[in-house]
Amino acid sequence: MEELHQDISDVILTEEEIREVVSRVGAEISADYAGKNPLIVAVLRGAFIFTADLMRAITVPCSVDFMAVSSYGDSVKSSGVVRIVKDLDTKVEGRHVIIAEDILDSGLTLSYLIKLLRARRPASIEVATFAVKDIQGKEPAIEPRYVGTHVPNEFIVGYGLDYAERYRNLPYIGVLKPEAYV
Ligand code: PRP
Repeated sequence: MEELHQDISDVILTEEEIREVVSRVGAEISADYAGKNPLIVAVLRGAFIFTADLMRAITVPCSVDFMAVSSYGDSVKSSGVVRIVKDLDTKVEGRHVIIAEDILDSGLTLSYLIKLLRARRPASIEVATFAVKDIQGKEPAIEPRYVGTHVPNEFIVGYGLDYAERYRNLPYIGVLKPEAYV
């Protein structure tokens, strides 16, 4: 872990702060979904850690399934077209779906996913994102129902967020030192 810590310049959210955020979001969802058995849809890979914690903070019955999407590259990412790499195994029709995301940036990935899942006729569909990246003068394409926290527009890693598939296992969220990615 030392090897990972030394690439971090600032800690944005400590483990303790993350726990508080997740337990608040879990309590909100538990209150809103009593008796509804929501289906939590985790968007791989980044969201798997948040989803695991969120589910344990939800006190009503719920299930989980996973989707993996990949953007075609930078130009297409900005258009929001993503490719489904792994689809759900669960039928969405009639279910109360909550998409769990680690971070909302442009919101284009989620906006695409919502459209796609809506076509499968769920009873409802909402988004729970652990963090929203604050970008001055730019609003995300979608408005999530549940927002854990806001993070600055910096190169952040940890708690599921990666750089070149590394750092997802950092238990906190931190800013990556430029020398770690140049
Ligand atoms: C990240 C993140 C969201 C998406 C957010 O995923 O997990 O899915 O980007 O960006 P947007 O709001 O601008 O669409 P990434 O493509 O890095 O894949 P990963 O989850 O496997 O890290």
